[in-house]
Amino acid sequence: MRVGAALLACCWVVTALAGDVRAPRSFLSPELQALQDDPARHPGWLWVEQGEALWRAAPPDSGKQACAGCHGDIASMSGVAARYPAVASDGALLNLELRIERCRAEQQGASAFGYESEALLSLTAAIAARSRGQPVNVRVDGPAAARLADGRRLYSLRQGQLNLSCQQCHEENVGKRLRGDVISHGLGTGYPAYRLEWNGVGSLHRRLRACSLGVRAVQAPFGSPDYLALELFLADKARGLAVEAPGIRR
Ligand code: HEC
Ligand code: HEC
Repeated sequence: MRVGAALLACCWVVTALAGDVRAPRSFLSPELQALQDDPARHPGWLWVEQGEALWRAAPPDSGKQACAGCHGDIASMSGVAARYPAVASDGALLNLELRIERCRAEQQGASAFGYESEALLSLTAAIAARSRGQPVNVRVDGPAAARLADGRRLYSLRQGQLNLSCQQCHEENVGKRLRGDVISHGLGTGYPAYRLEWNGVGSLHRRLRACSLGVRAVQAPFGSPDYLALELFLADKARGLAVEAPGIRR
């Protein structure tokens, strides 16, 4: 905790507005904001284009249908990302990545793309981009309520050698600088995002793993129940804010 406190005390930049949650975009430098807004220069759009090509292509090994074979034009996915994560008919909480993997397995009878694979990131980015600008609106009633509660508990749980919770950074220290970053409200609306440090597009769970590592806590696996519950909690927190995916991040 002392190490963490020292890190956080390092320097003030701007004071957060108490009680309101600002869009992740508003924490970016003017240069990155401009880049995020300009698909012609935004490198994440290469993933979007690749995802749109995959959407139209049938799996190579088979007479299986392309995504487009069932869903039609990818424009039909408008608004979908704003509703995820969501509880599926069998009660499982799925984010967009896992929803796509499920279609891949159950509807296409093909092998999983794999979390954090280029193919899955591309399809996720292409589908999420169809909700760009639309307000986040996840369901948290019914079977989602228990998972939301899990997410809320994890969000305030102190973790790792630095003994810090998500909340301590992303609520209590918003606007302060930490290792060259301005701490935002820690929302997921920009993901999958092109991160300069990654030199490519990565998922929200990759970002969460980086935060876990940052406090020297155990990193949960991609697609783990804990990160899914946190993802739902973050989406509920971001309710009404625009989907920014694909975002641009430092
Ligand atoms: C054989 C038909 C079929 C194919 C091929 C298919 N899907 Fe689906 N997909 C469905 C059905 C049916 C549902 C609704 C399932 C449900 O609600 O339980 C669905 C649901 C979805 C959803 C969630 C939509 C929502 O409104 O919540 C996404 C996203 C999706 N599919 C993406 C894909 C992607 C990406 C591919 C290609 C990799 C694909 N699907 C291939 C039939 C298909
Ligand atoms: C030691 C402080 C710290 C802790 C603890 C921490 N984070 Fe972060 N987090 C950061 C910093 C710094 C960034 C990069 C700047 C930013 O976007 O806020 C970041 C980024 C993020 C982002 C990406 C935001 C964006 O728009 O790119 C999300 C989401 C996030 N954190 C969620 C979490 C969650 C959930 C937890 C708890 C499991 C957590 N963080 C714990 C410091 C922290």
